[in-house]
Amino acid sequence: MVSSVKMDETKLVKSWDKKHLLGIRELSKDEIDIILDQARAFKEVLTRPVPKVPTLRGKTIASLFFESSTRTKLSFSLAAKRLSADSISLSSSSSSILKGESLIDTARNIRAMNVDIIIIRHSSSGVPYILSKVVDCSIVNAGDGTHEHPTQALLDIFTIKEHKDNIENLKVSIIGDIAHSRVARSNIWGLTKLGAKVTVCGPATLIPPKIEQMGVKVVYDIDEALEEADVVNVLRIQLERQQEGLFPSLREYTRFFGINKERLRKAKPGLLIMHPGPVNRGVELSQEVADMKKSNNMPYSVILDQVTNGIAVRMSVLYLVSICKSENGR
Ligand code: CP
Repeated sequence: MVSSVKMDETKLVKSWDKKHLLGIRELSKDEIDIILDQARAFKEVLTRPVPKVPTLRGKTIASLFFESSTRTKLSFSLAAKRLSADSISLSSSSSSILKGESLIDTARNIRAMNVDIIIIRHSSSGVPYILSKVVDCSIVNAGDGTHEHPTQALLDIFTIKEHKDNIENLKVSIIGDIAHSRVARSNIWGLTKLGAKVTVCGPATLIPPKIEQMGVKVVYDIDEALEEADVVNVLRIQLERQQEGLFPSLREYTRFFGINKERLRKAKPGLLIMHPGPVNRGVELSQEVADMKKSNNMPYSVILDQVTNGIAVRMSVLYLVSICKSENGR
């Protein structure tokens, strides 16, 4: 490994004992900080003329994406390449799951090929946890149902830290379909562990009951959520929810919760606008807000910065789960 990345390895090996990344809920504040510090070192690697290190040479990583993805899938794939790992991938449409093989058998067969890390995205909550109990390699959750999307939250927090001095007491409003969002859940776990003040905002039908028990404030008025925020993380409206009758129409959603320039008039200077993607332009964010550049203390969008940072954060996660020496690593 190159020197700047190797610097803290001995300390890391002692302090890191997670074999899997299943969710942010399971991480301590210190563990989140370790991931973000390591990601910072890898981000520097990505600026070099040859943006690659031999850190995971000899390791094999399998990506199993049983749900569509652009950002997460390509970002994990690039992260593995930048770490010099060998990587393979499988999707549901081309796997023997179509012939009736179970997911557990699929994972056991992949592990039998001496794969070291399985990255899994699945529409059912809990699948990464189940796999962690039936195969003895590392499991990394790339998004499971409505449960968690831990690397998305880590890259979101990494991006916030690049723009705001301190997460402690920072006011972050998460806006949209909180009930069905694994991104919201992972962000809430991560941000509250780091001391941020999190508000969630959306139509009452898209706010889960008792969400306050996660340590967040609930508001139903978008202007209130925007006015108090240092950061807004705007979620994708899942178009299928309209069929479920959870809101009357996209037009009505946009009228009451869509963020446009007019709505940002009372926002704090330098408000950070985030979105995990994919963006429904003209629905949850207007075209011009989605692309707002940094200028004169105005609100600005860091949506593409989030995507860039995803590679360094995922390099960090792949590296850290691979150094866990404990057989019983959690
Ligand atoms: N943010 C996110 O998970 O995007 P993809 O579905 O494209 O991976």
